[in-house]
Amino acid sequence: MQIEKDKTEQSGHPVADAPSKKVFIKTWGCQMNVYDSTRMQDALEGDGYTPTQDLDDADLVLLNTCHIREKAAEKVYSNLGRIRKLKQQRAGTDRPMTIGVTGCVAQAEGEEIIRRERAVDLVVGPQTYHRLPEIVAKAITSGPQIDTEYAVEDKFEHMPLASAKQVKSRGVTAFLTVQEGCDKFCTFCVVPYTRGAEISRPHAQIITEAKSLVDAGVREITLLGQNVNAWHGIDPKGSEMRLGELLYDLAEIDGINRLRYVTSHPKDMDDGLIEAHRDLDCLMPYLHLPVQAGSDKILKSMNRSHTADEYVSIIDRVREVRPDIAISGDMIVGFPGETDEDFEATMEIVRRTNYAQCYSFKYSMRPGTPGAEMEDQVEESVKDERLARLKALLTEQQQAFNASCVGKTIDVLLEKRGREANQLIGRSPWLQGVVVPSHLGTIGDTVRVVVTKANTNSLMAQAAG
Ligand code: SAH
Ligand code: SF4
Ligand code: F3S
Repeated sequence: MQIEKDKTEQSGHPVADAPSKKVFIKTWGCQMNVYDSTRMQDALEGDGYTPTQDLDDADLVLLNTCHIREKAAEKVYSNLGRIRKLKQQRAGTDRPMTIGVTGCVAQAEGEEIIRRERAVDLVVGPQTYHRLPEIVAKAITSGPQIDTEYAVEDKFEHMPLASAKQVKSRGVTAFLTVQEGCDKFCTFCVVPYTRGAEISRPHAQIITEAKSLVDAGVREITLLGQNVNAWHGIDPKGSEMRLGELLYDLAEIDGINRLRYVTSHPKDMDDGLIEAHRDLDCLMPYLHLPVQAGSDKILKSMNRSHTADEYVSIIDRVREVRPDIAISGDMIVGFPGETDEDFEATMEIVRRTNYAQCYSFKYSMRPGTPGAEMEDQVEESVKDERLARLKALLTEQQQAFNASCVGKTIDVLLEKRGREANQLIGRSPWLQGVVVPSHLGTIGDTVRVVVTKANTNSLMAQAAG
């Protein structure tokens, strides 16, 4: 036994037959947090941590948090309270528990988290995940660690690429971060403060990661960025390029069946990107383009840098080149100063856009943002009422879009088993979940089917022909 222990200590890594440590990661927030969680897991696997879904069985618990709305941040503290009790039960045993907070709450609140919840051993912001294994080790040996610097080095270059085995265990679709951070400073939003300034990952890194995903069996890649269409880079020949051109290069990789990207800002919706929707079959006909509000007065005070008409004209241009494109969005109701008339303008832009799918939120005052300082905050009851009306309209549009798919022949990428043994679930080009009979193919196949029934959130389909 003693010899085994020494070997572990000498190498700094567990020996092959040492019992591995387990990491449990809980993720809140946007797709970028989902991507970050998988990369943190990959980085920790190199240090001997295997993933577990069972909190009770974890040596290391990481809460990868979101700060976008008040409720999101509060959930973190209530979870920490419960996990503290588990940690206390494990104190003094041979498996003590280490607790870490990562993500946007970590970045925004820093050491305040440890002050408020003493059970926390490490607080790590999104820019320093490449240092995570080292920070965890330090927290275990030397006590609480906080790292919320905006690192000077390129974190992506320092993160290990996920191995084929790791990717295979996750499925046929994958996220790939190409851009991070935001310089737009919408007056309601914390993201520019939690994710820092806009940075684009280099072209070569993106192509390499995409190829390794495809080699491991991934068929659909969703490019991620807080403002993904602000991505820009230099191609191997030295010319400047933007997201549209990157998509053409990715489309050439053998084995990529489907490409998507999220989230876009109207201001960066340039001609090159619109042309990519016209030219590339593998670029799915789906565009998530949030507008947030329909009144020009509110858009201005949100600092969105475009008008309602400008937004609608972008949507028109995209629909002209790709008539079957599904439009999705995000809306906020009850931003400071929003009158009944302003809210009607939001309803109006929703009618003009006709969304296939759209998220809607009540404005949530975020500390440190200009919106929190504004007068004319809207009463909670008014926000509730507006949100209910908006949601009803959006549900109607979503149902109408789903119903319009019935009878259509569509391609579905099969992703997982269904609830019933004889069913598989895949996605339509427009991102709806589609339930198909399992004899039509296996996970990873793209099958051609006819849609037979539409529900609010999914479609049912049968073999085509
Ligand atoms: N970068 C994206 C979205 C980032 S956050 C964009 O520019 O559109 C995701 C969504 O959360 C936003 O689109 C917005 O609708 C919502 N959101 C952000 N801050 C919010 C706040 N303070 N209150 C309510 N909703 C908010
Ligand atoms: Fe937030 Fe606006 Fe940046 Fe989107 S563009 S992340 S809403 S500040
Ligand atoms: Fe939330 Fe941070 Fe994403 S605040 S929405 S996890 S960028």
